[in-house]
Amino acid sequence: MDLFEYQARDLFESHQIPVLPGAVATSATEAKSAAEKIGGKVVVKAQVKVGGRGKAGGVKVANDAQDAFEKSAAILGMDIKGHKVNKVMIAQAAPIASEFYLSILLDRANRNFLVMASVAGGMDIEEVAHKTPEKLAKVSIDPNVGITPEISAQVVKAGGFPDDVSDQVAKVLRQLWQAFVAEDATLMEINPLVKTSDGRVIALDGKVTLDDNASFRHPNHAQLIDNDATDPLEKLAKEKDLNYVKLQGEVGIIGNGAGLVMSTLDVVAYAGEKFSVKPANFLDIGGGASAEVMANGLSIILSDPSVRSVFVNVFGGITACDAVANGIVQALNILADKATKPIVVRLDGNNVLEGRKILQTANHPLIKQVETMDEAAAKAAELAAQR
Ligand SMILES: Nc1ncnc2c1ncn2[C@@H]1O[C@H](COP(=O)(O)OP(=O)(O)O)[C@@H](O)[C@H]1O
Ligand SMILES: [Mg+2]
Repeated sequence: MDLFEYQARDLFESHQIPVLPGAVATSATEAKSAAEKIGGKVVVKAQVKVGGRGKAGGVKVANDAQDAFEKSAAILGMDIKGHKVNKVMIAQAAPIASEFYLSILLDRANRNFLVMASVAGGMDIEEVAHKTPEKLAKVSIDPNVGITPEISAQVVKAGGFPDDVSDQVAKVLRQLWQAFVAEDATLMEINPLVKTSDGRVIALDGKVTLDDNASFRHPNHAQLIDNDATDPLEKLAKEKDLNYVKLQGEVGIIGNGAGLVMSTLDVVAYAGEKFSVKPANFLDIGGGASAEVMANGLSIILSDPSVRSVFVNVFGGITACDAVANGIVQALNILADKATKPIVVRLDGNNVLEGRKILQTANHPLIKQVETMDEAAAKAAELAAQR
């Protein structure tokens, strides 16, 4: 999960990384009162999860609270690289003497972490990295060692930081590492990390990515989720513990096991070419497809308005086909008249004959059984195209 800048600011603050006073606002009026509280000159900053806000006109200095009101009114509602601005952060304005860059990220290719540091920070860091890569120091970090005082001194030296800030920068880096580990992040970036005219080192902009695989260790991270941007069906699926990803097509897909669902997406995409339809989602109901899990899965897929047909592709294993077939029948009973779209079912594997017989006997008007995966995909695509 990527955080907004204001969330990164708060997280940094909770880990003793020096930041400036700041508050988030969703209206110009809120922004004005935040600016009044902070006092003096402030900066109005668009809160969108995309870089380059400054260059896009999403970061503006305001001389007083009234000015903050006006600048916020202009920035709220702006479109920055396809992201609509719904919130601004009002931050105290810093007297900037220099802008540095500092980041820690997970380096998957090398199976460790990487620190990057530069005294040429600010809005042109991408260009610096591209045109003068020698100005961006890179130091790899052994996860078993972490960032010791020696390593942070080494980074500061490699980055060419001036003597008057070296201790402060080294300290920020160690705090950043502690925050990175404590929060299970995969990226923490400060750009710019500034030196102020009175010699303080402060993080002015933060970019943080948290590792969702570690969210079970961080119940408090749930409050950082941007509910406005989460697909409502994906949210519902998550609550029901289902592995669901919304896609752009028309054929709803349910399968047991991620591998089977992936190949089902492929065969449906292939079969769908002829009819100009595509898979509408990925949904893996896992190994134990009980009636309840099947009902949850079906109900999520059937409530997606873009779904026109559903393909249930199950290979019976530990949970055999008869149990799955009973699950489908019970699920349709539970859903009753909420189920309105044709459902193509392909069962194979353990107890397949019993499973097919259960569906035949139930004789549900929406269910169409097909024996092979390719034929079932073609049928589901055809049915989607007809509606
Ligand atoms: N609180 C602040 N006080 C003074 N200048 C700021 C402040 N926040 C940002 N800036 C200036 O605006 C530039 C862009 O802001 P930043 O937060 O880095 O947004 P982005 O990286 O999305 O462009 C910074 O490089 C800095 O020069
Ligand atoms: Mg920045």
